[in-house]
Amino acid sequence: MTKPKVLVTRRWPRAVERRMEEAFDLDLNASDRPLTEAELRDAMGRYDAILPTVTDRLPATIFAGSSPRTRILANYGVGFAHIDTEAAKSCGIAVTNTPDVLSECTADIAMTLLLMVARRASEGERELREGRWTGWRPTHLIGTKVSGATLGIIGFGRIGQAMAQRAHFGFGMRILVQNRSPVPAEVLARFNATQVPTVEDLLPECDFVSLHCPGGKTNRHLMNSRRLDLMRPGAFLINTARGEVVDEHALAQALWFGTIGGAGLDVFEREPRIPDELLGADNLVLLPHLGSATRETREAMGFRVLENLTDFFGGRAPRDRVA
Ligand code: DGY
Repeated sequence: MTKPKVLVTRRWPRAVERRMEEAFDLDLNASDRPLTEAELRDAMGRYDAILPTVTDRLPATIFAGSSPRTRILANYGVGFAHIDTEAAKSCGIAVTNTPDVLSECTADIAMTLLLMVARRASEGERELREGRWTGWRPTHLIGTKVSGATLGIIGFGRIGQAMAQRAHFGFGMRILVQNRSPVPAEVLARFNATQVPTVEDLLPECDFVSLHCPGGKTNRHLMNSRRLDLMRPGAFLINTARGEVVDEHALAQALWFGTIGGAGLDVFEREPRIPDELLGADNLVLLPHLGSATRETREAMGFRVLENLTDFFGGRAPRDRVA
């Protein structure tokens, strides 16, 4: 039997690539350069499956007027707002993602950002590396206490809950939650959390706000200047979700004028480009989209894609089908 022809759009952990090579007629992207829209459109006519990531844009125009060979887009990553799933569906293309396996590491990065910005870790390291440290003194780089503070979590899916786990049990934080649907009482009870109806109800109550909602059109600029104004003076915003969830210009203004205490970002609106007005903000910690970047998680993500593909081509429903 001929093996399905599969395109992996970026380099993956070698252990996963090897297993994929055994199972499929596989093409790898040896250069690891992101594919252009034209290359992706061309690939749709030549491969049974394409395995994209967040760096591959698959808008409706990619699917328009085509009768593709591709039958499945098995995304490497939990977020799939870069794929127009409606357009894929209308061409009969299935879409899957990789939930669960990256929740813990993404929450670890959110907690890392929260601690770094509250305790001014990046500022301190910059000072030290640049030879500007003059020694210990009682008033040096005074930060904000994390233990016992109130954390607002917007989006209480798997990653939001993993964040609550760390914040509540590790740091004794009080947890407030905003989620588009009601969170089961037993889930809230696990973290002694309270769900509030709207983002507007949550923001003024929190010392820290961490975003864990999906990206895409619905949540674009969910954190805009009006909502940033609702945050407590001195409060911190953490984003490990998707860049478009935060209006970066509004955030830069809030940081510049000190209407909030600071922010920690792992994701950006136009990755890998970062606006200068953000790069210049001292009360901002920036990471290059590292949420899931551990060997264990990146391998688990790949094996989850493999499982989805194996089921799909074996005539079974892939467990992570999202369209
Ligand atoms: C995800 O899984 O969505 C990560 O952000 C990488 O794409």
